[in-house]
Order: sequence, then structure tokens, then C-alpha cells
Amino acid sequence: MSDVFILGIESSCDETAAAVVRSGEQIISSAVFSQIPTHQPYGGVVPELASREHLRAIVPIVREALDHAGRTYDSVDAIAVTKGPGLAGSLLVGVSYAKALAFALDKPLIAVNHLEGHIHAVLLEERQRGNHHLQFPLMTLVVSGGHTHLYLARKNGEGWSYENIGHTRDDAAGEAFDKVAKLLALGYPGGPIIDKAAKVGDPYAVKFPPAQIKHRNRGDKGPAPERPHFDFSYSGIKTAVLRYVETHGMQAGIDQRRQALAALGKPTSEQVISHCDRQTLDLVASFQRAIVDDLVGKTLAATREYDIATLFISGGVAANSELRSTFQQRAAQEGLPVYFPSRPLSTDNAAMIAAAAYPKWLAKDFAGADLSAEASLPLR
Ligand code: KG4
Ligand code: ZN
Repeated sequence: MSDVFILGIESSCDETAAAVVRSGEQIISSAVFSQIPTHQPYGGVVPELASREHLRAIVPIVREALDHAGRTYDSVDAIAVTKGPGLAGSLLVGVSYAKALAFALDKPLIAVNHLEGHIHAVLLEERQRGNHHLQFPLMTLVVSGGHTHLYLARKNGEGWSYENIGHTRDDAAGEAFDKVAKLLALGYPGGPIIDKAAKVGDPYAVKFPPAQIKHRNRGDKGPAPERPHFDFSYSGIKTAVLRYVETHGMQAGIDQRRQALAALGKPTSEQVISHCDRQTLDLVASFQRAIVDDLVGKTLAATREYDIATLFISGGVAANSELRSTFQQRAAQEGLPVYFPSRPLSTDNAAMIAAAAYPKWLAKDFAGADLSAEASLPLR
């Protein structure tokens, strides 16, 4: 089989990304334009600003990916794009641009689910390392700013299919990191700074009760799933942090930090940490410990229930150092191989989209001119 070069385009949230991947197994180039500075003052992604920034960045980022790959628009074999899930306006920028490119170049267009992309980030890097033999059944935890999902991933011929066996009932884990960082005036995004600050705090200083999930969502339709579900919930811990701040008189210190950091403009994480007292460092370390324990505990319980042979952890929160070390240690105790993407491939990127498109290329699973973005696209 000759080499297939797929140009991937990703614009589902706050990163505009393009990449060229060869045959689903080698990253030729991967360019990411992050909008973090745009959203930083608001402590979260502002959808209108995100769409505007995607519009500005999409053409230069695609050119950059092609230049770095030493390719032209004409010398790629297909255009792959994230169809959903994500922010509607943001997705639309990528989808419209990819459709126009595919039409103008007369190349096949491939629609990719963003979550499937996160799963293929791990597969891509394993293939790049020469590991072509993963054991099934395979389970993936996709844990990011918008998602906390457990999927069983199966290979059917050239293609893949997925079964959701757990999801968050409210906030995603990354969302909890971002909201707690905002609450404590640590900046945006919250994950990376909490990851660093937690290293100098006591993870057992504050006890958070485990998330209780007793009922199915009121919005859930249809009969209860026949197979057990492993759902998550992270809005309770965010509220518990807020309570702790209120009952321990921390607000004045938080306001001072907010002012001091604002005066610095773009503070480094070391500067942010130097403006944190012991109580704050202990609080974030305990918060992170509680989230990590919950993610690891539930995911490993699911791997036992489904007799899983291989575990993938992917998505922005997979960059968390404590999550990585805890999974590695506890999965090793159970003799379960666990794989993570490298940090650049954990957060949103387009190499994972181009990689997920390759099996669809082989199966000739192409999108038509009627392709549209789908903000709540499920993964199946
Ligand atoms: O996958 P991603 O780039 O975008 C989504 O699809 O959501 O994930 C971004 C999320 C943010 O919530 C960010 O705070 C979190 O990933 N994140 C982390 C770390 N790095 C990024 N969370 C915990 N620890 C980290 N080191
Ligand atoms: Zn993502």
C-alpha cells in the first residue's frame, strides 16, 4: 500500500490546528495556534471570540502545516476535519474551510469525531514507535475541558466502532480544574497551573467527600443500560472548594492575588505560585488528588468489569503529571498496560484528526458536500 498523506484540520474549541500525517502512523507536521491569550482575561473560552480567532488563524495554520511537511495543497491525498462535538461556531469555521478546500482541489473529504481523534492520538504515537500490536478489549478514558468519557474501542475490519460506558453527569474534569483556578485567581487554563502548584502543596490537607451518583440524569431517555455504567461528576467538588474558601476566610487573599497578578500582565506559573499561601497550595493539591483518585478509581473499576486488556488515557487532562503517575502505578499493580499521548498530543491538535481519518480513507468513508458541523455529535 502506497503512502497516504492526509491534511487534518481541527477547530472544535480554542485551538486552530492543522497537520499532515502519513498513513495514520507518522506525523509529518503539526501546527497549533492556541487562543489561550484571547480567553485568559475571561477565565474561560468565550465562544464568539473563539469563532473570530479561528477565522483569522485557519488559512495561515493550514499553510504552516503544509510548509513544514514540504507539501502543497495538491500533494495531499485527502482533507480531514473535525465535525463535532464542540462549539458550533468554531466547528463551522473548520468544516466550511475543509469543504471549500476539498471541492477546489477535488480531493476526498473525511469527517472525524473529535473524541475519536483523542483516541487515535494514542494509536498514532504507538504506531510511530513501532507498536502495531495492541491487545483487545481496549478501553479509553477521554478526559478534557469538555469531556470525561469512557469508551470501549473495537476494530471492525479497517474501521473502528466505539461504545460509551461512562460519562460525566455535569462538569468535565478539565472544566473543574479551570473553574477552581478561576475561583482561586490562579489564571486560565487551570489544569497546567494547578498541576504545578499541587506539587508544593499537601494533597491530604483537605478531605473532599467522594462524588455520589445515585440517580440517572433526569434528561436520560430510554431504559437503563444493560451493561454497567461508570459515570463521573465534578460539579460537587468545585462547590466544596468554594465552601472551603468561604468558611476559611480566604477571599481577601484571593482578591489580593488577583490584583497582584493582573499588575504583572502575563505572570509565569512560578510567579503565580509565589503569590499563593500554604493554605491555597494545600487546597489545590487536595483538589487535584481527589479528582485523580476518582478518575483512576472509576476507570480501573470499569477495566475490571469489562475485562480490559489495554487502557488509553487521552485529552487535555491526560497531560496532568499526577494523573499519569497514579494511573501508571495502579495499572501496573493490576498488570494492565496503560498508554498516554505525549503532552503536545494530549491537548487539542490536528494530527489526531488526520490519524483518525486514515481508517476512513481505507474504508472509502468520505463525507459529501452536505457535511455540516454537529455541536453534540455522539461517538459510536
Ligand atoms: O483536550 P483539550 O485541549 O480541549 C478539550 O477538548 O477540552 O483540553 C483542555 C483542558 C483544559 O480544561 C485544561 O485545563 C486541561 O485540559 N489541562 C490539564 C492539564 N493541561 C491541560 N488539566 C490538568 N492538568 C494538566 N497538566
Ligand atoms: Zn479535545
